[in-house]
Amino acid sequence: MRAAHPATRPGDESGDRTHAAPEGHPAGDAEAGAAPAGTAARPEADGGPWWRDAVCYELYPRSFADGDGDGTGDLRGATARLDHLAGLGVDAVWITPFYPSPLADGGYDISDHTAVAPELGTLDDWDALTARAHALGLRVLVDLVPNHTSAAHPWFREALAAPAGGEARDRYVFRDGRGPGGRTPPNDWLSAFGGPAWTRVPGDGPGTGPAQWYLHLHTPHQPDLNWRNPAVAAEFERILRFWLDHGADGFRVDVAHTLFKAHGLPDAGHGQHTEPHRNHLMPYHDQEELHPLYRRWRTVLDSHPGADGTAAVGDRLLVGEVILFDQRRLARYVRPGEMGHVLNFAWTDAPWEGRALRAVIEETVAATDAVGAPATWTLSSHDTLRPVSRFGGGERGARRARAAALLTLALPGAAYVYQGEELGLPQAHVPEDRRRDPVWELSGYTDQGRDGCRVPLPWQGSTSPYGFSEAPPEDCWFPPPDDWAPLTVDAQHRDPGSVLSLYRAALRLRRAHPPRRTGRLRLLGPGSGEWLGFDRGPGLRCLVNFGPAALPLDPTDEVLLSSEPLHGHLLPPDTTVWLRPGPR
Ligand code: GLC
Repeated sequence: MRAAHPATRPGDESGDRTHAAPEGHPAGDAEAGAAPAGTAARPEADGGPWWRDAVCYELYPRSFADGDGDGTGDLRGATARLDHLAGLGVDAVWITPFYPSPLADGGYDISDHTAVAPELGTLDDWDALTARAHALGLRVLVDLVPNHTSAAHPWFREALAAPAGGEARDRYVFRDGRGPGGRTPPNDWLSAFGGPAWTRVPGDGPGTGPAQWYLHLHTPHQPDLNWRNPAVAAEFERILRFWLDHGADGFRVDVAHTLFKAHGLPDAGHGQHTEPHRNHLMPYHDQEELHPLYRRWRTVLDSHPGADGTAAVGDRLLVGEVILFDQRRLARYVRPGEMGHVLNFAWTDAPWEGRALRAVIEETVAATDAVGAPATWTLSSHDTLRPVSRFGGGERGARRARAAALLTLALPGAAYVYQGEELGLPQAHVPEDRRRDPVWELSGYTDQGRDGCRVPLPWQGSTSPYGFSEAPPEDCWFPPPDDWAPLTVDAQHRDPGSVLSLYRAALRLRRAHPPRRTGRLRLLGPGSGEWLGFDRGPGLRCLVNFGPAALPLDPTDEVLLSSEPLHGHLLPPDTTVWLRPGPR
């Protein structure tokens, strides 16, 4: 692994240093060009709930740790490894679906929302997990999937057996088709995974009308619920309360922008799922009725008694997976009384380029400041290409991913870390015959899908599956690659120059400079495609070099941490540094 980051130790005088900062470079015009990105006052600047500046760790249970040796990660395995998260220094763990599921979409097709998948454990195992997390000082976020159920859910089975127009079908979105014999889908909506968003079911029987179609914005195994049916809303309140009773400190709400569909189900036209910047214009996205719903859920979370019998006003967290790129539309979900966070997909999707990242920072901070909410920053998730691969793969991708991590963790607000990001894992190759993601099939075998970021975590040892399971690699959820021995938690734990050590150091320092206490963000200079810089209050400056040449640093600034070893006062290409600005 690489040399120790403490090449960045304060007071390290070794190496060549260039003191002059050319005009337009970060050390040269920091103050003159400073432009506040967000100016609204934050009344809670010195306090507020824990989640305002939290770091939340996304745990995908099937690939985190296997406790029973069957090759699939499970709740007991996760509980036994939670100390990794505490050691990392995160505040909360978001656990992706662990419910009974036919696994048509990695567990996001749920057949019972208030139970644990038998292969992952029992409700007692869940209670033990939350108890252990709480003992370690970690909050627990449950993944709530309200847009759809599995086709194996009892409600959908009932709907299929019921006549058109009845209550059982009204919990979902059933419609007659268009054209002769109703053979054309009710409208032009497309599934996010490819193909039409409608599937036709057999007719109700002789003389009962044409066979109907049901809506599924994802796979045909995930029928969309009808959120205008009060039984659906009541059921999800029951589900919220159930998990609150079982230790949940909040919820990540799956595709939280799609629950309501525009009245009359009008055609969506072009750009569906291909022009994400127009997402908010689609008739199945961002409908106004979502906001009263989330305000209602906020009151459920605030008023539901906790384990000690007291309510927790404002302490519990709703995180929306709201896939909108218009930051002002997005910020409407985190207005007072609604959600606490929305995941920031503009950040996840941004290229490794100073101007593009600066624009996302400016828009995000301005939009969230305007509603008094924290910004959130997400580099990756179980749905995305891992940053190392997204930024070019190999050593260059790994280097940029480290720099992107330090940039992300320096920004004000909350951050999300997807399991394995803290180990610098690349996207793994999953052999065709082992692929599970429905995207592979639904794309006509053109898109490899998301399996490569869902490969089991390497924990220790020199051979696959690296302590993930007692099972042989071929029996694991996905087979871990053969060359991950240097990436195990154990190997990186012992290496001060590892990605894991970098994350730990960053999270430790972040606690010493909590964004909520150090005031607003000030972007430095005009920036350029080649560099980006900002101050977060008086105590922390972050500079990133995207360009091909080293950038001079101000020698009076104290280096707190950098994503690569520094030699002298030079910031190498594809490197981020955290500085404590010296006296000017
Ligand atoms: C969310 C999940 C994703 C899933 C989809 C449908 O986007 O993150 O994994 O496929 O919802 O439930």
